[in-house]
Amino acid sequence: NYYAILMAGGVGSRFWPVSTQDFPKQFHDMLGTGDTLIQKTFHRLADLIPKENIYILTNERYNDLVLEQLPEVTQKQVVLEPAMRNTAPCILYASLKIQKENPDAVMIVAPSDHWIEDETTFSKNVEQAFNFCSKNDALMTLGIQPTFPNTGYGYIEFDKVFSHAIKSVNQFREKPDYQTAKEFIAQGNFLWNAGIFMWSAKSVIKAFQNNQPKLYELFESGISSYNTEAESGFIKENYPKAENISVDYALMEKSTNVFVIAAEFDWNDLGTWGSLYDKLDKDAEGNAVVNSRTLVDDASGNMIRTKNDKIVVVDGLNDYIIVDKEEVLLIFPKTKEQDIKKTLQKVKDKF
Ligand code: GDD
Ligand code: MG
Repeated sequence: NYYAILMAGGVGSRFWPVSTQDFPKQFHDMLGTGDTLIQKTFHRLADLIPKENIYILTNERYNDLVLEQLPEVTQKQVVLEPAMRNTAPCILYASLKIQKENPDAVMIVAPSDHWIEDETTFSKNVEQAFNFCSKNDALMTLGIQPTFPNTGYGYIEFDKVFSHAIKSVNQFREKPDYQTAKEFIAQGNFLWNAGIFMWSAKSVIKAFQNNQPKLYELFESGISSYNTEAESGFIKENYPKAENISVDYALMEKSTNVFVIAAEFDWNDLGTWGSLYDKLDKDAEGNAVVNSRTLVDDASGNMIRTKNDKIVVVDGLNDYIIVDKEEVLLIFPKTKEQDIKKTLQKVKDKF
């Protein structure tokens, strides 16, 4: 009864210029391991879940990339979105499909672009969650011990009196401001939301029905076409009508049956150049250098990723991101990494 929804429709714009709209980060080997991020994620899930039960949700323009990088997947498992509508529509749509196939399905919803090395412990935690979700009407999140007031994450307040690994959640807050995030961390009973969810098809669909009735009605009207030839017509016409909203705002902040399991493995969402820098090998001065023909002198804390055939010299520069691609060269302070998204927009407007 185990299923997975792999979300692979994001653009990863803070990883520009490597990640682009035509070739987003989940399809790149960002860590230099020989596998792309989506390949790593797929294989991690395939340890727990039958391969044919893993659904990949992505924009229609990435269909070829998915089939090329995951040859074990058939077209039937790839759901193509005609428009980007964030994670809530994507999750509801896939959940309805899965429920039609198997009414007792229990599933994990996972991003396709995270770093998790300890796959054994990951599997252990997910199985604990699956057990709980098959017996309870629960929306389960994976919680990460926070280390600083990151405003790019969701925060989960858990119930202190719960002594089990699985704790009841008092409050879910998506992307609080810096001051609030600081207060949350000081309280000690807050975790970061890893953006990985587990629940039964029944529970998540009921939660959509209660909290997002318009979205539910829109997709429910097409159920008879799901998993048939008629489906692509339905999705083309109706998917773009869905509200653009993430599951964090659509369900997690609103529901009262939220639970969290504290992850016992290291996690990194590889959301920015800085988070990638944290995971790469560094020289004595803390420079992460991807191209071996790079000469670094009197420089520290830099993230340098350039083309392998190019000789690059970096001198007298600290804490910068340097990324070189055929048509773009980016030199950006690491402290402003969140702004790359905005800068990319400026570049698009100008050139
Ligand atoms: N199929 C599909 N369609 N996938 C999408 C879409 C879409 O329209 N939009 C985003 N995704 C995918 C992204 O590729 C990514 O893997 C995942 O969904 C999450 O989207 P992000 O845009 O990266 O979300 P976020 O980082 O702002 O916030 C989420 O993740 C944090 C942890 O990394 C939230 O769940 C936070 O609460 C959480 O802390
Ligand atoms: Mg993210």
